[in-house]
Amino acid sequence: MSQNLIIHTAAQSAAGAALTVIYAAEGTPPAGAGAEIWAATGLDWQAVSNTAGFKGRQGQVLDLLAPNGVAASRLLVLGTGKAGEGAALNAWTDRGGSLLGKLGPMRAETVAVILDGPEATPAAVAELAAGLRLRHYKFDKYKTAKPDDAPATLTITLVVNDQPAVDAAIADRAATVEGTLLARDLINEPANVLGPLEFAAKAGELAKLGVEVEILEPEEMARLGMNSLLCVAQGSSRPARLVVMRWLGGKSGVQPIAFVGKGVVFDTGGISIKPAASMEDMKGDMGGAAAVTGLMLALATRKAPVNAIGVIGVVENSVDANAVRPGDIVKAMSGTTIEVNNTDAEGRLVLADALWYTQDRFKPKFMINLATLTGAIIVALGHDHGGLFSNNDELSAQLLNAGLAANEKLWRMPLGPAYDKIIESRFADIKNSAGRAGGSILAAQFLQRFVNGVPWAHLDIAGTAFGTSATEINTSWASGYGVALLDRLVRDYYQG
Ligand code: BES
Ligand code: MN
Ligand code: ZN
Repeated sequence: MSQNLIIHTAAQSAAGAALTVIYAAEGTPPAGAGAEIWAATGLDWQAVSNTAGFKGRQGQVLDLLAPNGVAASRLLVLGTGKAGEGAALNAWTDRGGSLLGKLGPMRAETVAVILDGPEATPAAVAELAAGLRLRHYKFDKYKTAKPDDAPATLTITLVVNDQPAVDAAIADRAATVEGTLLARDLINEPANVLGPLEFAAKAGELAKLGVEVEILEPEEMARLGMNSLLCVAQGSSRPARLVVMRWLGGKSGVQPIAFVGKGVVFDTGGISIKPAASMEDMKGDMGGAAAVTGLMLALATRKAPVNAIGVIGVVENSVDANAVRPGDIVKAMSGTTIEVNNTDAEGRLVLADALWYTQDRFKPKFMINLATLTGAIIVALGHDHGGLFSNNDELSAQLLNAGLAANEKLWRMPLGPAYDKIIESRFADIKNSAGRAGGSILAAQFLQRFVNGVPWAHLDIAGTAFGTSATEINTSWASGYGVALLDRLVRDYYQG
């Protein structure tokens, strides 16, 4: 049973909170309202902070129990590092996460956080609130025993100066948080529970928010010629779905932007079966589709003034007598023939038709696809950067910037004709696997064959969607990587 988290704001010190939090920058006592609270305790700042070894470094905590002179039974002073440093908004997200991490073991029920310095702008407080919520996330719905005696509800009051402006900023940022949390939920869910139909039904729920959702079934996909996508689903008893989500919050008739996701609900590898070790991680092979769905939820929730299309190909890559075989040749919707020489290189087969369909039907300004596409990107970049491949320098620059701002970082990787040559097939136009060297680049070259010259970026998120180490804002297996990044891209470059 997950704890309930309530975050709200108040204009002045909320009496009654059992725990009060104030901040202090490195080497300085608490300032502003924090200074008044400290003064009320009658304690000597220098003596107490020296004794505790509290320097005000980012994440450091000074914990006072039953202080005199203040209503709260516990006073926390949180370090924020050197003044001026960490002024970036995502430092505030981390501060929120870090604070929530501290509160958990304290079994707190009511907390007041005093945020009145000049740095505590509405946007900064909104980030702090986002960090609290993101860190609070747990995927424990399958735990039958309550793990600890945490109170059922944690209520956090953010005490701020400009309450209406802060409330608006928090609500706006919360839309993106909800998107990230939806993506995490979808990724964490096991494949016996979340098959293609169930995933499509989850996406269908976005209709409540004003997203137009269409769900294509295999008959329709076959009619459209999506044999590349369909061959992946052939070995599964659970049929494929292609979900089209449309958020039309922009001016009518304005060319949309498009996001495309790989949604392999489970990747056994097919006949080219994967080794057993860590195969369970392949329940997360729909991380790209989860990010696209989370993004659409975020855009619709905050009523973003943009026309955005989300397309996800949702399939299971499994094995039975009908499964696609190595050596089989399929004709994609674009007309390109593909030799499937490795059934484990299935993500690119799904995206080939999803990308072609998206540009063909919607004529978007650009397409960005997200996919847990290659193990090789983990070898190249580890877990702290997603791989960015693009035919467009402007879009790439925007994505790199958005990644830094959202703290979901990307690193650009190359494309080029020499790599493209390697995917040529002896029997068909191209083959879906062409050796280990530059594996992530070859996958990207394969995708590029299906973008028809449209400005396009491919984000290989195999290393960042799940299995990342814990951060201040995430302790769950799934990260939800991509939602905040793309929401930032839309906010900074494509609204209005
Ligand atoms: N879903 C995997 C890639 C992956 C691996 C994602 C580890 C997350 C963690 C993808 O479908 C795959 O199997 N790729 C192969 C491609 C190869 C057969 C050309 C790979 O990376 O080994
Ligand atoms: Mn695979
Ligand atoms: Zn896969």
